[in-house]
Amino acid sequence: MELPKITPSAIRAMKGRERIAALTAYDFPMAKLLDDAGVPLLLVGDSLGMVVLGYPDTTHVTMAEIEHHVRAVARAKPRALVAADLPYRSYETAEAAVANARRLTAAGAEAVKAEGGREIAPQIRAIVAAGIPFLGHLGMLPQHVVEEGGYRIKGKVEAEHAALVDDAQALVDAGAFAVVLELVTAPVAKELTAKISIPTIGIGSGADCDGQILVTTDLFGTSPGFIPKHVKLRLNLAEQMRAVVAEWRRSL
Ligand code: KIV
Repeated sequence: MELPKITPSAIRAMKGRERIAALTAYDFPMAKLLDDAGVPLLLVGDSLGMVVLGYPDTTHVTMAEIEHHVRAVARAKPRALVAADLPYRSYETAEAAVANARRLTAAGAEAVKAEGGREIAPQIRAIVAAGIPFLGHLGMLPQHVVEEGGYRIKGKVEAEHAALVDDAQALVDAGAFAVVLELVTAPVAKELTAKISIPTIGIGSGADCDGQILVTTDLFGTSPGFIPKHVKLRLNLAEQMRAVVAEWRRSL
């Protein structure tokens, strides 16, 4: 019997019932593989700028680039829900947010993600009112890395803790179906998970979120840059690939 397609409501309903596994996918074969493995949420993340396109950070990723990768992932027709990142500066107004979210859904995304809390609530409301499911992203916001001067854990000081609580509630009120918490201190991530009615999906935010998301190349050990501290190396595929190439060359 074919299992039903995963919807945003299905992800939301997993809170308190089932841990949510989410991974990034940037192309057709990886989307197929992760879907076959039963991962319910695939994100065409703008991390693709760094791990696929060779940019120094996510601020260089364009709408056209995200659309291209969303199309590749959507061609796998996964059972998993496919969410896609609205890239840097593509959601500065409610009008731009809706127009660009529509471009991503036309390419095959079933939900969109953008970074921020109260400051983007009007954009989120407009996206949700346009019938497009919205996934939030709080904590360390990679699209702000240049102005923040690096990747830093959020929630250590009281002002950040209070802001995260207000931002998380603002996302719920604006209609998000779940929220990614990136590099939030474990106690604050645990508190947010208990406080809000939608699932929290952590990355580097401790074990107490409703789910976890990873950049897939970090899980497989093929990331071209540094491996973040929260990543437990389960496989060093890059090493194995190098060895296979060397063996093949010797066999010629
Ligand atoms: O772009 C991305 O891959 C992300 C995840 C790290 C959550 O936003």
